[in-house]
Amino acid sequence: MRSLLLLTLLTLFVSADTNNNPYKNEAIKAVKTLGKALKGDLQKYMKQDPSGLAAFGFCTGKAQEITESVNKKLPNNVSVRRTSSKVRNPQNKKDTLDKWVMISQYGPGKANHKNLFIVEGDGFTRAYKPLFADKACLKCHGENIAEPLKAAIDTAYPQDKAVDYKEGELRGFIISEVKH
Ligand code: HEC
Repeated sequence: MRSLLLLTLLTLFVSADTNNNPYKNEAIKAVKTLGKALKGDLQKYMKQDPSGLAAFGFCTGKAQEITESVNKKLPNNVSVRRTSSKVRNPQNKKDTLDKWVMISQYGPGKANHKNLFIVEGDGFTRAYKPLFADKACLKCHGENIAEPLKAAIDTAYPQDKAVDYKEGELRGFIISEVKH
């Protein structure tokens, strides 16, 4: 109930009409920077070891580290992170505005919304970039994760919810926030 109220309030306070928002480009740039940093390295490891184990080691150890180092290079008022409606790492948990965006822009019946979404709030602008599961993602987020990868995931993330995705499904978001 409380979260429903919050979601309703959010609808009143955030604006999706952001054509003239001067912070939009900076927000988009930050999203792209993290996307590139994570994806480049993931592809490299998947090529080296098609079982996905080496890449899993990379994701487990490095995804947060890379996110932190990208954040350090961004201006102080800009930050970037990832989230999902079903997270693997609890550190990537969604916040209330994330939830509102997921429901109002990307929820059932809104599946055509494949694009980046900008939200302008009081003192901040956020960019949401949706990430869709391609074949490579399914090795670690799909329905039939092969051993020994599956066991490694279960051990490292006992609360893992980021499985059972099908090709093309919305897997999560990269989100940047510019404070102003
Ligand atoms: C080699 C295994 C592996 C592959 C392949 C993989 N992931 Fe992940 N993914 C992980 C792990 C491990 C985490 C948790 C790491 C962290 O953020 O600490 C994660 C986290 C995420 C998150 C952050 C939210 C969460 O669940 O914690 C998103 C979004 C995500 N992955 C999307 C993707 C997408 C999109 C692809 C394909 C381009 C992909 N992943 C491919 C292992 C993988």
